Amino acid sequence: MNKPEFYPCLPLRDIVIFPGMIAPLFVGRDKSIKALNEVMKNNKKIILVTQKNAEIDDPAAGDLYSFGCESKILQLLKLPDGTVKVLVEGIDRVKIVECDNYKEFLKASIEVVKDKIDEKEDLLSFSLAMIRKLEKLTNLNKKISSELLTSLKDQKNASKIADHISGLLNISIFEKQKLLETIDLKLRLEKLMELINNEINVIGVEKRIRGRVKNQMEQTQREYYLNEQMKAIQKELGEIEEGKDELGNYQKAIIKAKMSKEATKKCISELKKLKTMSSMSAEATVVRNYLDWMTELPWHSKTKKIDNIDLNESKKILDKDHYGLDKVKERIIEYLAVQKRVGKIKGAILCLVGPPGVGKTSLGKSIARATGRKFVRMSLGGIRDEAEIRGHRRTYIGSLPGKIIQQMKKAGSKNPLFLLDEIDKVGSDYRGDPSSALLEALDPEQNANFNDHYLEVDYDLSDVMFVTTANTLNILPPLLDRLEVIRIPGYTEDEKINIANNYLLPKQMKDNGLKESELTLKSNVIQDVIRSYTRESGVRNLEREISKLARKTVKNIVVNKTPKNEINTENLNEFLGIKKFKYGEIETEDKVGIVTGLAWTEFGGEILKIESATMPGKGKMQITGKLGDVMQESVKAAKSYIRSKSLEFGIIPPVFEKKDFHIHVPEGATPKDGPSAGIAMVTSIVSSITGVPVDKNIAMTGEVTLRGHVLPIGGLKEKLLAAHRAGIPKVIIPEENRKDLADIPKKILDKIVVHTVKNVDEVLKIALTKELKPVEWIEVESLPKSKSGEKQSTGSTH
Ligand SMILES: Nc1ncnc2c1ncn2[C@@H]1O[C@H](COP(=O)(O)OP(=O)(O)OP(=O)(O)O)[C@@H](O)[C@H]1O
Ligand SMILES: [Mg+2]
Repeated sequence: MNKPEFYPCLPLRDIVIFPGMIAPLFVGRDKSIKALNEVMKNNKKIILVTQKNAEIDDPAAGDLYSFGCESKILQLLKLPDGTVKVLVEGIDRVKIVECDNYKEFLKASIEVVKDKIDEKEDLLSFSLAMIRKLEKLTNLNKKISSELLTSLKDQKNASKIADHISGLLNISIFEKQKLLETIDLKLRLEKLMELINNEINVIGVEKRIRGRVKNQMEQTQREYYLNEQMKAIQKELGEIEEGKDELGNYQKAIIKAKMSKEATKKCISELKKLKTMSSMSAEATVVRNYLDWMTELPWHSKTKKIDNIDLNESKKILDKDHYGLDKVKERIIEYLAVQKRVGKIKGAILCLVGPPGVGKTSLGKSIARATGRKFVRMSLGGIRDEAEIRGHRRTYIGSLPGKIIQQMKKAGSKNPLFLLDEIDKVGSDYRGDPSSALLEALDPEQNANFNDHYLEVDYDLSDVMFVTTANTLNILPPLLDRLEVIRIPGYTEDEKINIANNYLLPKQMKDNGLKESELTLKSNVIQDVIRSYTRESGVRNLEREISKLARKTVKNIVVNKTPKNEINTENLNEFLGIKKFKYGEIETEDKVGIVTGLAWTEFGGEILKIESATMPGKGKMQITGKLGDVMQESVKAAKSYIRSKSLEFGIIPPVFEKKDFHIHVPEGATPKDGPSAGIAMVTSIVSSITGVPVDKNIAMTGEVTLRGHVLPIGGLKEKLLAAHRAGIPKVIIPEENRKDLADIPKKILDKIVVHTVKNVDEVLKIALTKELKPVEWIEVESLPKSKSGEKQSTGSTH
């Protein structure tokens, strides 16, 4: 046996060389370089064997795999750092028979291994199928060039194809070595196929995961990018100040607002939400709006404390702003005194009730001034939706807090005077009941935790001083129950003259820029204005007419150059036009069927003419003049009463079947209602049937029952003021209203004679110009004269 030949052997750390494979190697180890030198010198072959463990520097025979590749060196290049780069080509698969670690380098004797091939198998087709698989893999990872693939396809040797592909695949050294050691070609091909399939699967999964991650990344990156761009644009446009730190500012504002604990917590959690949102999203805008509202509401700041009020000072302020109204002012001062004592707003809420223009709203303002509070006003007229008071939930786009919270923000202090105007005009319908929200706001027991839908947290209204106003007492009962009503019935002529001279005229002169020397009003001018140009309980129209006087004067000064203007009763119409009202509404003569009634409406007291006429007919009754149900019923009651008493009034009953009645209340366009025209109806009908005229100087008011009793009425003061305005000297009122006369200004009682009555007979006696004679009994001749009454009565008992 020949002594086996030993070849230089090069241990490889991280590569397996297959037959037919060309690969560059970097060689740095001393022994390896020596081995290469030996090869170059003797033009020998070199054995390339892979180390089992790449980390061993000087591997012995046992550290190497037992299969390697006999190769030749194609090129060798010495690099400046002493290492060598070689290009090698694998030639044959070899088995290491013996290996020695010599001093200079490793040497090995080998045995060339030939593939085991089963000739029956069509291994070439198998390998071609594998190339197609490889193509698919290449499409996925693009690591193998297309030229390589085409050259592979041209190969006709399955073994070479297998080795070539083995060298290309991205698999572990261990797997590669296994492929190298598989001698059965079919087995090798199958193994290779499995590896390619695995690789394809892995790449597929990887790709899917990468795709998903990339998508998410892209979206957030896109948003971030766009936002940054938007910010840059806004900065460029000057919309954002440089360095503005929105979140930080909110943080500061929240602390500064000194909210309740609950509110602070809520705001901080909203702020956290805001941080995670993209700053331009619609949601972020909603949160920002919310934080703006919360931080701008007055949670803490108060103007003057209740216990610091000087009530004398307050009284002075009230007096300065309004003439008269002594009782009202006194009530207000009492109310304030109690508050000052208690230190808190407790108890009922003031409600100023009266006709338009009597100063309810301006009195509210004045109370605010007198107590050193901010003034805010909210009109309740026509509010039907609870959300207007309590706000919309934040889920609605563009939702806002309710009006109460809105006004609180406007007030800017926690303890303003909050005027709820026209509380009698609150309605309720399918959109919810605003009065329930109002109740909560007004109730001192509940309003420390007022709940607005938008804010979501409670807001403390307990320091707010609520004052309400209304024209009528027609207020929802639960609301009315919480109110302390103060009535302002209207002004007498004298009061109006005073108000005009001391308040309205100076105010209008100032507003119109007039100096005192430029306009003089002669005496009685104001009275004339009141009598001929206004007919009202309050002073709003009066103020308007005075403003007209001032305006026209200014025009005179500017256009006609008349520096001094004097207005007297003669030239008044040059300023105000023709008279609008005739002063005094007394008829010129006593007339049949015409009665002056006194009514009360939300505009104050008023004169009501009632007319009735009879005509031949069938006893029908017609009522016109837009009378409400109650008034129509009172007409019917009046008629029934008259029928039942007809003989006493000198009326012969068949009249009721033979005549038609028409009752009319002129100024048909204005609706009228209420029972208080009862006695006027009776008087009018009786007068028209009997033909006895009614005293033109008398006005009357009183409800009437079917038995002829006169019942008391409301609004006496307003009614008497109206009678006074109309210049009526005599008034009939129910006896039970006598006590109310105490409230009537003496000046009025001096001018009007007031008759109090208990029943209709008394009314007729006073109002009709002739006394009524009862119908005399018509004696029936056949009955014995003296016993007729007895006969009848005994007759009825049998
Ligand atoms: N006693 C008064 N002294 C001085 N000015 C008065 C007085 N009463 C009313 N005024 C003036 O009359 C004007 C109308 O008053 P205001 O608007 O307060 O009426 P109001 O009672 O609220 O009416 P409405 O029921 O229509 O709301 C105001 O300019 C007010 O200053
Ligand atoms: Mg008002």
